[in-house]
Amino acid sequence: MNTTLRMPHQSKNHLSDTSIPQQTYGVIDNLIASLPDTVQLSSEERRGIIARYTAVLEGNFIYFMTATLLAVQSEDARPIILDNLHEEVRDAHPAMMRRFAIAAHAFPTASDALAVHEDLTKVRLFLGRLSGVQSLLTMAFFEGFIQKFMAYLANLAAAQGSVEMEYTDVHGVCDVEHTDGLFRALSVEMALNPLDAKKDIFEGVYLLRNLIETIVFNRVETLPA
Ligand SMILES: [Fe+2]
Repeated sequence: MNTTLRMPHQSKNHLSDTSIPQQTYGVIDNLIASLPDTVQLSSEERRGIIARYTAVLEGNFIYFMTATLLAVQSEDARPIILDNLHEEVRDAHPAMMRRFAIAAHAFPTASDALAVHEDLTKVRLFLGRLSGVQSLLTMAFFEGFIQKFMAYLANLAAAQGSVEMEYTDVHGVCDVEHTDGLFRALSVEMALNPLDAKKDIFEGVYLLRNLIETIVFNRVETLPA
């Protein structure tokens, strides 16, 4: 099964000898390593990270996963995504996210929502192209990142005086299975509905990474004029 997860030789990506999950985990690990030390951050900086994360996740995670469901052609990939969506809806993860932000006094303001506006729009439009393989990889990356980011997010909230940790507790554990499942779905989809060799399979991963960097660093140059 691993061979189906190798980069095609024609790919523009230089790391063609490394498997796609390995490369994806590499992007995640680099992101996690770049996170600012929570004790060095001001209270407003900590609030901002939680608020921008919430501005993206609360209303978009289910949307992104639904877009991915619409994009996949493989019947075998669908149940893996549906499983994920069922859990999101049944356990009301957006409500859990909102509770987490409110308890940390970090419910997103208009400026928090606008700070992520441009990068979020790029990810939405990208997923709207309904490219099964690229969307699945983007969501595998997202799940993998979220799982590793939870301890950091919980630290930020604790430093803001919050004890409401259901969101970070739930997502630090269950998303390990989700990430593996999405990589399995990716492998199936690549076999059935392969990506055009001229396209970069990591396109969505990089767009989502930019969005996450804006959540964490709120770079001024990404703000709308
Ligand atoms: Fe969730």
